[in-house]
Amino acid sequence: MADKQIMPGLNRVALSDRLEVSRIIQGQMRLLEWGFSNQELFQFIEECIALGVTTFDHADIYGDYECERKFGEPLKLDSSLRENIEIVTKCGIRLLSDKFPDRTIKYYDYNSNYIISSAEASLRNLNTDRIDLFLLHRPSPLLEPEEVAKAFGKLHKEGKVLSFGVSNFLPHQFEALQKHLDEKLVTNQVEISPYNLEHFDNGNMDFFLKENISPMAWSPLAGGSVFNPQTEKDRRLELALKEVAGQLGAEHIDSVIYAWLFKHPANILPIVGSGKIERIRTAVEALKLTMSDEQWFKICVASTGKSVA
Ligand SMILES: NC(=O)c1ccc[n+]([C@@H]2O[C@H](COP(=O)([O-])OP(=O)(O)OC[C@H]3O[C@@H](n4cnc5c(N)ncnc54)[C@H](OP(=O)(O)O)[C@@H]3O)[C@@H](O)[C@H]2O)c1
Repeated sequence: MADKQIMPGLNRVALSDRLEVSRIIQGQMRLLEWGFSNQELFQFIEECIALGVTTFDHADIYGDYECERKFGEPLKLDSSLRENIEIVTKCGIRLLSDKFPDRTIKYYDYNSNYIISSAEASLRNLNTDRIDLFLLHRPSPLLEPEEVAKAFGKLHKEGKVLSFGVSNFLPHQFEALQKHLDEKLVTNQVEISPYNLEHFDNGNMDFFLKENISPMAWSPLAGGSVFNPQTEKDRRLELALKEVAGQLGAEHIDSVIYAWLFKHPANILPIVGSGKIERIRTAVEALKLTMSDEQWFKICVASTGKSVA
């Protein structure tokens, strides 16, 4: 499906003939927790770019609808910054929030008008004239592919969105939507980590390989719980990750997790959730590690607690 090519040495991936992203993506969900001033955020973005991490992942709802706006501030400081990055954002979740006092529950909305208004709000918040990649955040039982096609067609025609994708979809949901679209869906952003192997079991990883789709992996470090083991599974994983780290000469267990993700043939793009530049550097440096098949399976076995059949 997606016309994917990997450019060796550049750590970049072409998701289509008009969208290239960095192999490592920086996630903005926790941006408000980092307490950056606009100038500090500007510097952080520049440091990411210097490491080759040029793609930034957002969603309308992050930080109770505030993260996009915060990210838009440094883009005002220097207009050239926007030209050096790719912006991914998402729509479709209507969150319970003080900003929307009439809302009584959290729910999903993929009506055409809502998708369009959400993209336009993201453009305003991010201080940009285009979204490089726009994702539907989660599948919904009420999603009508024709409605999505109408919205995507308009946003694309007006130059507001360059490429489209989905998040947390299963293969049949991806295909049902794709059937109605003129544009190819270029990625599916799903949770993948040694802590969460569900997409190896639900057919998604095989689907990515079959369709030549590079998936984006959210919470690659299980949201940080890898550093604070609580359960038996956590402890098994910590032990295995430390053992493999020793064998690979890696200083950090996060390097081993990234190397584990990079080894998979679907060309997984991890979304690093840290706001600390040294932790993003760790992810970049993990691209140099080569993990054996045996080490890869050792980590899987530590996760599941049982040998493969
Ligand atoms: N599509 C979806 O449904 C979906 C869902 C969730 C997330 N996402 C995307 O995925 C991105 C990444 O998710 P995530 O933030 O959960 O990723 P993550 O990388 O698994 O977790 C990040 C957390 O781990 C902590 N951490 C990282 N390295 C550490 C270390 N060496 N020691 C201690 N703590 C460490 C970070 O703290 P520090 O900041 O202190 O380093 C941060 O709190 C998000 O920003 C968002 O863009 C998408």
